[in-house]
Amino acid sequence: MDSEAGREEAALLNRLRTRLADFEKDRANLLSILRMIQETFSYIPEEAIYMAADHLDLAPSEVYGVATFYNQFKFNPPGKYPIKVCLGTACHVKGGDIILENFERKLDIREGETTPDRDFSLERVACVGCCALAPVALVGEAVHGHMAPSKVEGLFTRIQVEKEMAEREKRRHESAR
Ligand code: FES
Repeated sequence: MDSEAGREEAALLNRLRTRLADFEKDRANLLSILRMIQETFSYIPEEAIYMAADHLDLAPSEVYGVATFYNQFKFNPPGKYPIKVCLGTACHVKGGDIILENFERKLDIREGETTPDRDFSLERVACVGCCALAPVALVGEAVHGHMAPSKVEGLFTRIQVEKEMAEREKRRHESAR
């Protein structure tokens, strides 16, 4: 985790302590608390599980058990570049799972995970509504159609260039202050 993400998360955890006080110490509030945590962080961090358990006087394993029961909750932070691979019927038929495998290999993570530097997260999604472009992958909001294993590498080169440009721009802004 880079220090910026670490600082941001520490601030959110502090804020979470205050927000938990709005919930009565009642087990019936567990689901609402988990939803609030997910909205705050876009995922459920481990520390937040402990804080919720502490607030409700429950074992952390119980809180974790409830959270994993519902697939609306995520346990990995979203990456700066969230990658989604469509595995709806049309994309599946055209080899969407091979595209997913290529991303997994390239990033050295499995679907549902985030790279340790939090640059990339990878997930499979159901039909994103552009089946004519199957197989489809999304990087952030950008749709990439007619994906092929050879295009995966090209996509990363493009992201790398965008990243370097954004960093250069950021440094330019900082030195202009
Ligand atoms: S199945 Fe992938 S876009 Fe529809």
